[in-house]
This record gives sequence, structure tokens and C-alpha cells, in this order.
Amino acid sequence: MSLVADLPGVRVRAPGKINVFLAVGGRHDDGYHELATAFQAVSLYEDVYATHADDFTITVTGTVDLTGVPQDDSNLALKAARLLAAETGYRGGVHLDIRKEVPVAGGMGGGSADAAAALVACDALWGTGLGSAQLQALGARLGADVPFSVMGGTAIGTGRGDALNPALARGRFHWVVVPNADGMSTPRTYAELDEARGDAEVPDPAVPVEVLQALRSGDARQLAEALHNDLQAPALRLRPDLREILELGEAQGALAGIVSGSGPTIAFLVENRADGTALESRMAMAGYDAVCVYGPVHGARLV
Ligand code: C5P
Repeated sequence: MSLVADLPGVRVRAPGKINVFLAVGGRHDDGYHELATAFQAVSLYEDVYATHADDFTITVTGTVDLTGVPQDDSNLALKAARLLAAETGYRGGVHLDIRKEVPVAGGMGGGSADAAAALVACDALWGTGLGSAQLQALGARLGADVPFSVMGGTAIGTGRGDALNPALARGRFHWVVVPNADGMSTPRTYAELDEARGDAEVPDPAVPVEVLQALRSGDARQLAEALHNDLQAPALRLRPDLREILELGEAQGALAGIVSGSGPTIAFLVENRADGTALESRMAMAGYDAVCVYGPVHGARLV
């Protein structure tokens, strides 16, 4: 039996992510697209406190707007707990107390982080002892970004984004994240990309060597040159108002800005923490909530 199996509760912290590079390839029959992406886990976290229960229940609080977060069985964290129980034959349940810090429907993998945290928390609470690799494999069945939130750090994702290889990243990159009150639907952003492409041939996606070199160098200026997201153009077509935020941040001192994942959160790369704090307050003066974060940080783990 695991050492922590007798604890009354287990707290796990899982990170949100920024895709510093995201190339989208062709669409498969199941609706998913072939991806080549470079993820970085950043210091915005979801905390999940798991306690023993007969059934599967959830409460959700947080520092972000919780509109749209399901509080029923469709919540991804609850699905994660049920999946782990089914896979391991665990017969009890769990109560998950989720505290959210990652913008909801923002393109930063908040829901995926909840699922990652729930998997790690239940595995510890129940003493099922699956460990990171198996939890990542289970996570891939819940959503393409879940395995990365379990792994953390900096990684290259291929396939649906869930086949992961750790990438070397030197030092710490500083980002200013600007969330947006109106969340976006990930499938809608992908559909917009597909519509624009029509029947055109789509090349196999790959992460360019410049991205890997920039991450390895620890040089924010080099990484700024390499930032790219194929979902940015469709996200901006769906939400032209985001362009103004991108331009403002770049005019106010960011090295570069990028739509995070499928949007609408914008992530600005800055040279250092001081520049991040300065940009954060300039964005606030212009009426935009902004938060300075850094990466890479660890994946889902007990705290
Ligand atoms: O796996 P996840 O639930 O995060 O994906 C949300 C949606 O994003 C999918 O339903 C799909 O529309 C889109 N997606 C995709 N290709 C991927 C990952 C996600 O088309 N590789």
C-alpha cells in the first residue's frame, strides 16, 4: 500500500501551458488534427484537493471567472477520477475541491490541468500507484493536453499533441498573460482553420529547429523570433478585438505576443521579470487584466 493511502486528503497542483509553437496539420476522421507543438508549463496553477467519498463529487472555486465550468459529471476532473477508478478497479469515490487560477476556455489548458491534477491526486489518495507514465496514457484519453499537464516542463507534442518528448529549456522565460472574459470554443477555432484551408494540401507539421535552439539558449529574444501559432489567424478572424491587445502589448514593451493555443488568451514574451511587471501595469492602465508568469514549471504533483 502507498504511504499516502491513509491520508484524509491529498492536494495536487497542476500547471497551465503556453504553446510557444503550434503547427496544425491535416484533419483525421475522428475530428482531431495532426499537431506539432512546443509546450511550456507556466506558473498559473490549478489546485485540486481530493478527499475520500462514497460517490464522485466536485466543488469549484477560483481567482478566475468560473462561467462555463461544468459542476456536474461532464467536468473533466470528475471524468478523470472515474476513469482511474474504472481502470484500477477502485471501488470508492472521491470529492474533488478544485481551485482555478488558469483562465477558463482561454487556450491555456486549464480544464486539462484539472484532469491531470485529479489523476495524480486520486492515484495518491487511493494508493493505486500508477505513476506518471501510466497517468499520462490515461490522460490522453480525456483530452489532448492532459498528458502535458501531468509531465510539465517544456516538451514537444506530436500526434494529437499528446505524444510527448521533453525538450531542453535553459533558465526561465517570463510571460505576461492577458485573459479574456469571453472564452472561445477550441473546436470552433479549429473549424475556422479548416474552412480557410478548404481542399488545399496541408503539409505535415513539424517543430522547426529554430524553436528548439531558442528554448535551449534561454534567450528570450531568440524565442520571440520563433513564436508561431497556426490557430492565431483563425482565432483573430473569429475575434478581431484580440488584434488590438496584441498590438498594444507589443507597442508597450513585449518582445512578441501570441494567441495562446486556440485562444482567446494572449501571451506576451518579455525579456525579464521587471519588464513583465512593467507591461502588466501598462496593460492594466489600458483596462486589461494581465498577469506575469514564468516557465518552465513542474507538472502535476503533490503539494
Ligand atoms: O482533446 P481536447 O478535448 O483538448 O480537444 C478539444 C477539441 O480541439 C477537439 O474536440 C478538436 O475539435 C480540437 N483538437 C483538434 N486536434 C487536436 C487537438 C484538439 O482538432 N490535435
